[in-house]
Amino acid sequence: MLSLGIETSCDETAASVVQDGRIVLSSVIASSLRLHKKYQGIIPEIAFRAHIESISLVTRRALEAAGKKIKDVGLICVTKGPGLIGSLLPGISFAKGLSYSLKKPLIGVDHLQAHLYASFLTKRASGQCRRKEPPSLPFIGLVVSGGHTSLFLVDKNFTFRPIGATVDDAAGEAFDKVAKILNLGYPGGPIIERVARKGSPEGMRLSCSGPEDLNFSFSGIKTAVLYKTGDKRQKTGYRDIAASFQKAVVEALLKKSFMACERNKINTLAVGGGVSANRYLRERFEYEAGSRQGFEVYFPPLDLSLDNGAMIAGLGYRLFKKGIASDYYLSPAS
Ligand code: KG4
Ligand code: ZN
Repeated sequence: MLSLGIETSCDETAASVVQDGRIVLSSVIASSLRLHKKYQGIIPEIAFRAHIESISLVTRRALEAAGKKIKDVGLICVTKGPGLIGSLLPGISFAKGLSYSLKKPLIGVDHLQAHLYASFLTKRASGQCRRKEPPSLPFIGLVVSGGHTSLFLVDKNFTFRPIGATVDDAAGEAFDKVAKILNLGYPGGPIIERVARKGSPEGMRLSCSGPEDLNFSFSGIKTAVLYKTGDKRQKTGYRDIAASFQKAVVEALLKKSFMACERNKINTLAVGGGVSANRYLRERFEYEAGSRQGFEVYFPPLDLSLDNGAMIAGLGYRLFKKGIASDYYLSPAS
């Protein structure tokens, strides 16, 4: 069965055609990021307008790239939240319209759960995917995005149980704010990663690993960077600050994720969300997993770490097979 996935939770208008919940036939993304750059953050009204302008075209392109017609699609999947209400609405309305006119089922998909499902996806040209086998169930899922940092226990029935979350800023948000403090631009994650490659992670003493529970906190480290960079006696260069910050965040994510695995006696970890595109993070998680016998860590194909329609189409299909579907009362959920 072919499912169409529509994602409009933030600034990306994305659509994708996925076969049987696993093989990505196309993934098309239009971003309004350049319109937000000068504000150093996403402006909901601008995102809303951009979604309305591009959603039809993006969907048409996704069908063309997959070599399919809209009538070939058996299921319409759409992000129901969390996200910006003004961004979610155009996607949900468009998906409802398609579902109604085509007489195809509609399913609203949770954005965070979909980020974890991205590790189950594989590209049409299988050579692009590092690993053919998807994660085995149950697994621990870590979502690290611009708005969320959450741990889930995903059980054998594909039910997501929240077991930890950030109490303040999200990891991606911290990357964005630290990049702003260092005057590096927006979005901060990819820039910090690039700059950190030339810096020393020992340059500045930073930590955000916090107490021995499964929650995260990243607002303290952002404030620490703000004070330390404002201190005239401070001689650490911005590259070293970026590297030290990145290391501290990744160590905190590592510690809590492996703690969640140990506490639940689970040997499989899947990481998703924009921050999971970070190569330093991937290397550290893979190194730690490699040092534990029988432990596997999974990441999405690199371009499916960030917001995309394929993860929505994939999880939508999986949930639909479980008998879940939405009606036309579907509305944005926070
Ligand atoms: O999942 P995502 O595309 O959107 C949300 O659902 O929020 O994540 C976007 C976040 C941004 O905060 C961005 O700075 C961060 O992911 N990000 C990264 C990297 N690429 C994107 N953070 C660290 N390293 C990266 N390479
Ligand atoms: Zn996301």
